[in-house]
Amino acid sequence: MCLNVEDKEFSLNDNAAPVRRRLRVAVAGLGVIGEGAALELAKDETPYALCAALVRDPSKARAAKLAALRTYADPAVMLVEHPDVVIDALPSGEAGRRLIEAALSKGVSVVTANKQAIAGALALLHKHAAQHHAVLEYAPSVGGGAPMVETVRRARSLGAPREISAILNGTVNFILSAMKNGAAFSDAVKRAQDAGFAEPDPSADLSGEDARAKISILTYEAFGREIDLDAIAVEPLTEERANAFSKNGGVWKQLARITRDANGGLRAGVGFQRVDSDPLFRKVEREGNALRVVNADGRALTCEGRGAGREPTVESILGDLNRIALALPLRKLEGEENALRRRVSVG
Ligand SMILES: NC(=O)c1ccc[n+]([C@@H]2O[C@H](COP(=O)([O-])OP(=O)(O)OC[C@H]3O[C@@H](n4cnc5c(N)ncnc54)[C@H](OP(=O)(O)O)[C@@H]3O)[C@@H](O)[C@H]2O)c1
Repeated sequence: MCLNVEDKEFSLNDNAAPVRRRLRVAVAGLGVIGEGAALELAKDETPYALCAALVRDPSKARAAKLAALRTYADPAVMLVEHPDVVIDALPSGEAGRRLIEAALSKGVSVVTANKQAIAGALALLHKHAAQHHAVLEYAPSVGGGAPMVETVRRARSLGAPREISAILNGTVNFILSAMKNGAAFSDAVKRAQDAGFAEPDPSADLSGEDARAKISILTYEAFGREIDLDAIAVEPLTEERANAFSKNGGVWKQLARITRDANGGLRAGVGFQRVDSDPLFRKVEREGNALRVVNADGRALTCEGRGAGREPTVESILGDLNRIALALPLRKLEGEENALRRRVSVG
């Protein structure tokens, strides 16, 4: 049985406006992010109906408020619960990609926090979503609580973006901030882990893989095309490099950057830069993230916020859910109109 469910279908009233019902939402992953999202959706006042969850081990005890939630280990079986939207909060890129493709191919919309699942595949996944009248949103996969996807979309609506530079990895920023305040590298990594920002194995953050995936997502958002992930040059954060920054002094940040040249060519990279004179980046502390997008006409848009952690990421997931709730009736009607046209032309 679903929690909070109302069973009215989308339908047309006399004025041809869609009648709304609570959207059924399934959550994939009940870890730091997924459990946080599920707990929000299980609240009485939510406009959504939390109907199922995907986990690795359905026999595991869950938070008391989620005790009645049906949990599955097989994505295909979870989709039989007929969610309208799936929230992908899985830690694995491969499992996330499989889930997103399975959901979209059934017309189920997706909000994903899982950058590795979508990096390099957004063009394909958006096409897939459109074919099945579903919507794919992914603001929580980049920037946590900093509205980076939204800011880049806004810049694109105002003109042609020329350059994006951003602090995209909360763990690396946390380590650099702690070291600037005197911590040793190993202590700074441990503090990031204790604060819940760095994984027990922080290699995806330190190697720059995380920032690479995120800048590729922003590249698609800004320029409407994919960039080859292997073409994004990445500098890892090693202990030696971090110590050199401390010795050098000043404010050092990991910046991801993508630029579009006059011929439309794209160049992207992730590296370290001294930013003492940059008013946006120099003040980003701890797990903070920040972004600047500059358009061809010189107009610059910026945003900043907490780049990691349950609260800002869940907030971002709820923002995307609201966007989907607004878009879905239209997608559904488009699908029905197309089906009607096909029936009329066949008849
Ligand atoms: N943590 C952050 O601050 C943050 C911020 C932004 C985005 N993200 C992204 O959000 C996603 C989730 O991160 P997280 O920190 O919440 O991860 P996490 O705590 O490690 O998530 C673990 C959850 O995923 C389930 N799970 C793992 N592998 C599975 C599989 N193959 N099939 C089904 N369920 C599986 C686990 O099931 P069991 O409970 O049964 O073990 C558990 O419930 C990641 O892609 C991450 O990059 C995280």
